[in-house]
Amino acid sequence: MADVLEKPRKGEDVRPKGRIGRRLLITSPKGGVGKSTTSRNTAVAAAVESGLKVAILDLDPQRGCVKWFAMRPDDKVVAVDMYDGAIEKFEDAFAEMDEDYDLVVIDTPTSVEEHKGAMKRLILSCDAVLIPTGQHWDDTKSVTDWMRYVRSCGARASFLLNRCKPRTKSFKEARVALLKAGPLCPVEVPDREDIPTLASAGLTVVDVNGMKSSDEVIGVWLHLKNEMGF
Ligand SMILES: Nc1ncnc2c1ncn2[C@@H]1O[C@H](COP(=O)(O)OP(=O)(O)O)[C@@H](O)[C@H]1O
Ligand SMILES: [Mg+2]
Repeated sequence: MADVLEKPRKGEDVRPKGRIGRRLLITSPKGGVGKSTTSRNTAVAAAVESGLKVAILDLDPQRGCVKWFAMRPDDKVVAVDMYDGAIEKFEDAFAEMDEDYDLVVIDTPTSVEEHKGAMKRLILSCDAVLIPTGQHWDDTKSVTDWMRYVRSCGARASFLLNRCKPRTKSFKEARVALLKAGPLCPVEVPDREDIPTLASAGLTVVDVNGMKSSDEVIGVWLHLKNEMGF
C-alpha cells in the first residue's frame, strides 16, 4: 500500500482555513472493523463529554452513519448533525455545510485503493486520523501498511483496537504488532453487545446512562481530543 499511493509534495498543506474547527478522519482498508461505529461513538462522545458542536460526514456509499442517524430519537439525545457526500467530492460536501462546527468526524469506505487521490487529499486535510482494527493477524497485517502511508503524509494518526478481547494472547500480540507501525490509542473498545444493540435504535453507549462501554468510548474520544489539540 505504501508504494501504491503517491506521496505528498514536501510542504503541501491543503488544510482548510476558516469555518470548520477540526476534522477527524476514520479510515481502514479493511471492512467490518468498526469505522462507522467508531465515527458515531466518537461524534456523540465529543458532544456529550466536551460539549462540542459536532457533525458526521458519511463518505461511504453504504451510508452506515446516515442510516443510523435516520433512526436517532433526536428529541431525547444530544444533537449531532449528519451530512453525506461522495468521497471524490468531499470538498464540496464541506463547502455545502450550512453551519460552523467544532468537529467534523469523517466516515469513509473501505475501498482506499479505488480512491487514491481523494484519500490523499482527505488525509492531508484532517487534523487527526484514526485507524480502527481487529486483533487478529489478518487485521493487523492489512492496517500496518496503511498506517505507514498515512504517516508518510505527515498526518497525526493512531490505531484503535476495536471489538477486541483484551485478556487474550492475540490481543497482546496485536498491540505490539501495531506499535511497530504507529501509535495506538491507549483505550481499546472490547466486543460489547450493547454497541450494535443500541446502534439499531440510532443510539450509542454514550447516549444511555450506565453502559459499561461508555467509559471506553469516552476514553477514545479523550485520546483524540488531545491528538487534535482541543
Ligand atoms: N466494539 C464493538 N463491539 C461489538 N460490536 C461491534 C463493535 N464495533 C463494531 N461492532 C459491530 O461490527 C459490525 C461492523 O462494524 P462497522 O462499524 O459497520 O464496520 P465498518 O464501518 O468498518 O465496515 C457492526 O455490526 C457493528 O455493530
Ligand atoms: Mg462502515
